Amino acid sequence: MPWNRRHLLTLEELSREELDQIHTTATGFKKILNRSVKKVPALRGKTIVNLFLEPSTRTRMAFDMAAKRLSADVISLDAKSSSTTKGESLRDTAQTIAALQADMIVVRHSAPGSPLYLSKILDIPVINAGDGSHEHPTQGLLDTFTMRERIGDLKGRRVVILGDILFSRVARSNIQALRTLGADVTVVGPSTLVPPYFEALGVTVSHNLRKALADAEVVMLLRIQHERQNAGMFPSIGEYTSMFGLNQQRAAWLHPDAIIMHPGPINRGVEIDSELADGHRSVILDQVTNGIAVRMAVLYLCSGGQPEYVTVTG
Ligand code: CP
Repeated sequence: MPWNRRHLLTLEELSREELDQIHTTATGFKKILNRSVKKVPALRGKTIVNLFLEPSTRTRMAFDMAAKRLSADVISLDAKSSSTTKGESLRDTAQTIAALQADMIVVRHSAPGSPLYLSKILDIPVINAGDGSHEHPTQGLLDTFTMRERIGDLKGRRVVILGDILFSRVARSNIQALRTLGADVTVVGPSTLVPPYFEALGVTVSHNLRKALADAEVVMLLRIQHERQNAGMFPSIGEYTSMFGLNQQRAAWLHPDAIIMHPGPINRGVEIDSELADGHRSVILDQVTNGIAVRMAVLYLCSGGQPEYVTVTG
């Protein structure tokens, strides 16, 4: 099946076949990244603009790295150094980038739906690098890629997402991809951050940590998104940690071969203890590394590339 999408806005709209195509393409690119010469000419002559109007370390650097590994020219613009500080709108900023003849735009913005909006007013592909608390599609893709790499087929596998589900775009994208891949997903945390209506997304909602973690094969920790919360959603950070932080004692409830994930940035000692974040079950840095290959796959496919390219040349 050929790849037909120009934009990556949400994982909600991707089929099982499309998730497989991205992951297969990323597998090919990952092999290239392990060579001494890590570059392919797939996007030579193309210019990619990373427009990050919210802070980022790993997503922005991984998109930068991915574009360079594909031989594209890449320009990054952040909120502080752009003319948005002088009052320029997102629309005018994006249209300026397109007028400068960028071939693709990667956007992170605090407003849910902003990448969708740009996809409607621009003639170039738009990639969502995180839009408010809506979605973070490439994070969901790299997380499920890492899970498949570590534990294989996700059909029927028990995945727990623990923490601030309500405000998390990472949770939403992971839920969409995991459900499409057939995983059995539980979301757990305080009732203020894990509302019952998440069940409509096909997941189990729990506020009982011990029951949720029992025999889970994957646990993904999420930090508290203070920047998106207007009111206190729990009495104190200490209380949150005492009720829902992952420590050695609670990690013993997991399946013996369980992996521990976190999209980052981590608040050590809050949602997860350092000894677990750095321990043998942690795949947190593998997630970061896989983010390059997965973003290479997304940039390549949305630029009009086809999955066969990697099979032939990878
Ligand atoms: N996971 C993630 O989006 O991290 P950054 O905010 O550092 O990009």
